[in-house]
Amino acid sequence: MPKLPLLEARTAILGEVDAIIIPVFQDLREKAIPPKVTSPFFEGNSRNELEIVEKFFKSDIFSAQVGSVQGLRWATKNKNVLNHVIFAGLGPISELSEEKIRKVGAQVWAKLVSEKSRSVVIHVDPFFDRSSLKSDLSHLRKIRAFTEGLVLSAYEFKKYKSVGSQDSKKGSDFSKRISFLTSEKSWVASLEWHLNQVSAMGEAVYLARDWSNEPSNYGTPTYFSNEARKLSRQYGLSCRILTEKEMVRERMSLVLGVGQGSVQPSQFVRLEYLPKKVKNPKTIVLVGKGVTFDSGGISIKPSLRMEDMKHDMAGAATVLGATILASCWQVPNRIITLIPFVENMPDGGAIQPGNVLTARSGKTVEVINTDAEGRLILADALDYAQDLKPHVIIDVATLTGAVSVALGKQCCAILGNDDELISALRDAGSLNGERIWPLPLYDEYGDDLKSDCADLKNSSNDALGGTIRGAIFLKQFIREKTRWAHLDIAAMAYDLGNLPYYPKKGASGAYVRTLAQFIADF
Ligand code: BES
Ligand code: MG
Ligand code: ZN
Repeated sequence: MPKLPLLEARTAILGEVDAIIIPVFQDLREKAIPPKVTSPFFEGNSRNELEIVEKFFKSDIFSAQVGSVQGLRWATKNKNVLNHVIFAGLGPISELSEEKIRKVGAQVWAKLVSEKSRSVVIHVDPFFDRSSLKSDLSHLRKIRAFTEGLVLSAYEFKKYKSVGSQDSKKGSDFSKRISFLTSEKSWVASLEWHLNQVSAMGEAVYLARDWSNEPSNYGTPTYFSNEARKLSRQYGLSCRILTEKEMVRERMSLVLGVGQGSVQPSQFVRLEYLPKKVKNPKTIVLVGKGVTFDSGGISIKPSLRMEDMKHDMAGAATVLGATILASCWQVPNRIITLIPFVENMPDGGAIQPGNVLTARSGKTVEVINTDAEGRLILADALDYAQDLKPHVIIDVATLTGAVSVALGKQCCAILGNDDELISALRDAGSLNGERIWPLPLYDEYGDDLKSDCADLKNSSNDALGGTIRGAIFLKQFIREKTRWAHLDIAAMAYDLGNLPYYPKKGASGAYVRTLAQFIADF
């Protein structure tokens, strides 16, 4: 895993610093009230130099519009003084939101990378409300959002860049020490606490991204189940892994059916987090689609962008990340995380279109399209999940290409049978700048999945309402009183270059934070 930036709270600058970052509200900029950059932050700088900073601040060069970042450097003879100031615009305080601040964090990170700044100081006092500037967000939440933007931007996947290669040296891998400087001594402890929370968040999101980015020749079902076991030890979760033999005993023929065209044995991972000192905690089951590579099987995919199908276990990565993050936050609810890992391949043993499989629930399924494999493995996992009698079940999957057509790359789709659950998930999403949009699940959509020879089929002949059909298939395996929601993250799982603080290419790690938040608030 790439190293997280080291975050620390300070009341004085220690050691050498490459740059100091000063957040600026547009209101202050317009009133030409310069930031406090005097002692102790600028000890050693001459009066002249402080004047340079003030002059620059008052000039038209820096607008303080949200996301605007301006650096000021000047030469000094004395090496021990700070001669690099970066102003970060936050826009007008009345229009501030946590998401905007995260984006500013991302802009600042880009600046630090381009300036090759290794050790930087963020002056957090300007985040504090002054009497003339009231904002609804508490200063700690502002600082936290800013830090999230930085940390989420700092990820890179370089595992397979050879050490000497050009790219292995590029980017942000160098700088990692970020000090948060405040003159308010009484804030240090709570600042530190928040920084730790953000570090945990970074770790969980990085992990999810690493999982999803892993090439599928390495990232096999066996690799991920081994990793899950290691991580469960590291984070104090319990872990059980069902082998194919045990899955036969569990009657999970849909999981086994999808995996049978691959030389890689399928694995069914079950993780559990149990809160300490909570009597009768509520149980949340998370289910993640873990197709380590989706070739489509016998209904093979076209070759264009087939390489992206290594990300077809992004749902698994998301629920793993969320479980780890929630456990780091010591949430008061019990979490059981279920991941069927399979590789969808077309070898001589593969399932064929027209085959009929019997699901764990007892329903028979005609496999019209072996590329509609995610819903098959999830159906068995959801059935298993309901035996655990949870309060709610949430599944996360890169289920349909159709969700990109419906919603593009700004939000994922949510479908389910419980409006309260859906709106709670959407709320957790908006707190984290991760958007979730509902699609309908009218029972009549199920008519499209009637089979001539089995209880239902996994796909229809036309491509209408693909995301809804995927979900309506899953719904056939949801029992009457189960509260359930399904997130189709196919469009949001990778290549989110359109959004700030997600990597331009590769895994996004989106919805890890949202799910952890949902669990924490449930
Ligand atoms: N893994 C794909 C969905 C997908 C497509 C994810 C593009 C990310 C990017 C899924 O298994 C699949 O192939 N779905 C089919 C369903 C169809 C055959 C009913 C699809 O969306 O075309
Ligand atoms: Mg498929
Ligand atoms: Zn798939």
